[in-house]
Formats: sequence, structure tokens, C-alpha cells
Amino acid sequence: MITAIGTGATGFIGSNFVRLLFKETNVHVVIVDQLTYAGHPATLIDIQNDGRVTVLQEDITGEQTI
Ligand SMILES: NC(=O)c1ccc[n+]([C@@H]2O[C@H](COP(=O)([O-])OP(=O)(O)OC[C@H]3O[C@@H](n4cnc5c(N)ncnc54)[C@H](O)[C@@H]3O)[C@@H](O)[C@H]2O)c1
Repeated sequence: MITAIGTGATGFIGSNFVRLLFKETNVHVVIVDQLTYAGHPATLIDIQNDGRVTVLQEDITGEQTI
């Protein structure tokens, strides 16, 4: 199985892209998202039980936040 990484994919564009991927392909998606005000796992509520998505809360810049 192919695994894709979706950065920022609990946001508007990314979550809809993941939805399209699930509809069109068999990929598994690992979402890496900082979960800022703009991102929330609830945006994926319709596909979170699909079994093909994993959400990791990380800052892709690698910067430490306090
Ligand atoms: N209903 C609508 O039509 C609607 C709703 C929202 C946004 N928009 C439009 O969509 C565009 C923006 O969408 P988008 O998806 O690019 O942005 P977004 O702000 O919706 O999502 C960005 C995502 O990236 C994440 N993120 C930000 N910095 C990060 C970091 N350092 N590391 C990891 N994750 C990080 C955020 O937590 C968020 O989930 C704008 O043009 C906006 O006007 C439209």
C-alpha cells in the first residue's frame, strides 16, 4: 500500500485533498498538522474511521513552541 504525507491536511485545502485521495485511490495518508486555529481533526470526521488516515500533531518547520 502507498502512504502519502499530507501536511496541513486538517485545514481547508488539505482535508479536501485527502477526501479526494480516498475517493480516487487506495493510499493511506499520514497527516502532519500543527493543529493551529485553522486546523482541527473534526474537519475529517467523515473519513476518520476509514482506517487509512493517521493524524500527527507536529510543526513541520521543526521549531519548538512553548
Ligand atoms: N469554506 C471555505 O470556502 C474556506 C474555508 C477556509 C479557508 N478557505 C480558503 O482556503 C485557503 C486556505 O486554505 P489552506 O488549507 O491553505 O489553509 P488553512 O489555514 O485552512 O489550513 C492550514 C493548515 O496548516 C496547518 N499548519 C499551519 N502551519 C503549520 C506548521 N508549521 N506545521 C504543521 N501544520 C501547520 C494548520 O494547522 C492548518 O490545519 C484560503 O484561500 C482561504 O480563504 C476557504
